[in-house]
Amino acid sequence: MKVLVFGRLSGPAAEKLASVADFSQHDRDMPLPEAEIERLVGDVDAVLSEPLDGITAGIMDRCPRLRMISNRAVGFDNVDIEEASHRGIIVCNTPGVLDDATADLAFALLLAASRRVCEADRYVRQGRWTGFKSDLMLGPDIFGKTMGIIGMGRIGRAFALRARAFGMKIIYTSASGRREKENSQELGARRVSLEELLRESDFISVHCPLKEDTRHLIKKKELELMKPGAVLVNTARGAVIDQDALVAHLEAGRIFAAGLDVFEDEPNVPERLKTLDNVVLTPHIGSACVDTRERMTSLAVDAIVDAFAGRQPAHMVNPSAWEKFNGK
Ligand code: DGY
Repeated sequence: MKVLVFGRLSGPAAEKLASVADFSQHDRDMPLPEAEIERLVGDVDAVLSEPLDGITAGIMDRCPRLRMISNRAVGFDNVDIEEASHRGIIVCNTPGVLDDATADLAFALLLAASRRVCEADRYVRQGRWTGFKSDLMLGPDIFGKTMGIIGMGRIGRAFALRARAFGMKIIYTSASGRREKENSQELGARRVSLEELLRESDFISVHCPLKEDTRHLIKKKELELMKPGAVLVNTARGAVIDQDALVAHLEAGRIFAAGLDVFEDEPNVPERLKTLDNVVLTPHIGSACVDTRERMTSLAVDAIVDAFAGRQPAHMVNPSAWEKFNGK
């Protein structure tokens, strides 16, 4: 069996994969053109990919040996799932092991954006500080304010726990409505419509996946519903928010600030965004913690090992493809 690993693989996970497959690695810093991905995938049986690697229907067509895509991430919008399913290509992801790390970064962005941590740091470094002033670098209070969480899956819930510890009231939207009772009992969280969330929240954090119906879920109209002093955080996927509309909104000072870890066309970040003081920017590092990344890698490798040994992997995005995969 041949496997192509995008990014790096070392340690026990690499040894485990090497014990069942002949694997090659391809590290890259930028998204590769489709033709280059196709050339690298070539005649491998499985690919271990990451959010940077777009695995399109064209690649699946021109790499007919490809039977599995194991995405080292919980999000899988970089893979054409429908087309993979048609072809009996199984797709796996790594849920459940990065919830706390991602929720931590989302909360860090919330704190940094609202308490102006990066702006204040630049101010001190630039030698602009002349002494204590009671109105210097004011930001909104957090305790007692309303936190709106868009998407109450595992990461949304981990984020809610943090918000609760900071004494916030929690409202949320959820497409599935799962765990509504626990969310209410354990987190004091109330499920509301998107419109109510946008109107009522002092802080909003996005935790829903990017899908057809969540692309540009937050655009001009939704931004205009937000409170003027609100803070918006996104650690999910850039395209859940219409980035141009958000930039215009921030430029006009229509919300207080934003904290963004994800962007519409990564790694490109609009210059206009970079010049704004009321935004904190990080380079898609939501799950970038040592143990978390090891757990993600281990899940991604286990999925490949299991699938090719005939055991259904623990986290299949398209379980309907399993039968076809096995028959191939
Ligand atoms: C994910 O898992 O989807 C993150 O964006 C990358 O870790």
